[in-house]
Amino acid sequence: MNTSYQVMPDLTDDEYRELKSDIQKRGVMVPIEFDEHGNVLDGHHRLKVCRELGIKEYPKVIRAGMTEEEKRLHARKLNMARRQLTREQMGELVDQQIIETPEKSDRQIAAGLGIAPNTVSNHRRDLERRAQIAHIDKSTDTLGREQPRQRKTVSIFNPTAREQKAIQNPAVIERMAEGESALTAAKQVAREEKAERKHFTLPEEIPDGTYTLYTEDIRNGLLMVADESVDYIITDPPYPREYIPLYSDLSRLAARVLKPGGSMIVMVGQSYLPEVIEQLGQAMQYHWCLSYLTPGGQSPQLWNKRTNTFWKPLLWYVKGTYSGDYIGDVVKSPPNENDKQFHEWGQSVGGMKDIIERFTDPGDIILDPFLGGGTTGVAAVQMGRKFIGSDILEANIKITDERIKEAYTNARCEE
Ligand SMILES: C[S@@+](CC[C@H](N)C(=O)[O-])C[C@H]1O[C@@H](n2cnc3c(N)ncnc32)[C@H](O)[C@@H]1O
Repeated sequence: MNTSYQVMPDLTDDEYRELKSDIQKRGVMVPIEFDEHGNVLDGHHRLKVCRELGIKEYPKVIRAGMTEEEKRLHARKLNMARRQLTREQMGELVDQQIIETPEKSDRQIAAGLGIAPNTVSNHRRDLERRAQIAHIDKSTDTLGREQPRQRKTVSIFNPTAREQKAIQNPAVIERMAEGESALTAAKQVAREEKAERKHFTLPEEIPDGTYTLYTEDIRNGLLMVADESVDYIITDPPYPREYIPLYSDLSRLAARVLKPGGSMIVMVGQSYLPEVIEQLGQAMQYHWCLSYLTPGGQSPQLWNKRTNTFWKPLLWYVKGTYSGDYIGDVVKSPPNENDKQFHEWGQSVGGMKDIIERFTDPGDIILDPFLGGGTTGVAAVQMGRKFIGSDILEANIKITDERIKEAYTNARCEE
């Protein structure tokens, strides 16, 4: 147990036995106090008894946002308020506080401990006489003008696990001090932090290293991409039957180059879904299937399936455990934006941007090993992400390179 804030010596054996038998009979009557990191501020002995008796439910208070100095002051104040302390024990706590903050006025220290300023003055004189503290002519004024910025503190009784987690964040404490509940404050802070994370501005010139393109057959393993160097793979492999074995190469590539916890999003056709899922799962862990809507009047008609299709699956695989943002699982391509100008199987930039926005943050590294006309690269670079792309056909690399350069300039002009 962390005892940094235990300001009183341990109870004697008899006192401890008495406390234990009282708790056994009546339970814990005075809440045990913690800071937001789970350190005990008050109630070290009560907590020890609970652990020995196997008591898991007891009244609890969490005080969040205090400085180290404030925590010790608080612990002393609680002890001062207890009647069973002797005069000497009380005096010891006052001395501890003066020694810790000699620059504070007697009035401030007295207010913090909940005692009379006179008592503090007497103790200060005594400490000065015994040379335990230096004589201080000036003290910080009561308006706190020479003090470090006062942090806001809040208390929360018997918090749930979610509330306990929420108050680890000083920004949540700030909002709670304005009257919001812990969970509302946490939600709001998470929203603001996410907006901050997603914000980006594009430099005037495309920075070196923003994107790299390779002419490469995925079956050779893309060895130029280092192990565990990629945040996300977002790709759209060919759908016809003869390409199905490539999904196994893709699975192995992802397992090697993704960072632990990294995700791979694969746009797939419906016709061979069972086989594709089997291949992709060879080295990666299936996580979810998102729906990629392709609304508009030009839906492909699959005559052999007697289907007009308006969506396709986005299969989501992870390496290890995903711990990122919550993801809405319906992604939308803008109506009729199925641009085939750069590749016969080209996807829409708008749809790709939606995927990239949901999953990734500016600065993340995205890999697409089936570039085609480079839609993923265009969207990634326009959104401040880094991009690695490859394709078996050199012509596709050239098209993508030109397209990315132009798209970057266009995105800069639109800012
Ligand atoms: C469906 S297209 C990608 C289209 C792209 N999403 C777009 O919007 O332009 C798939 C690409 O995979 C490439 N490809 C096919 N076999 C490959 C292989 N063995 N290694 C690497 N790329 C391959 C094709 O040349 C094609 O450009």
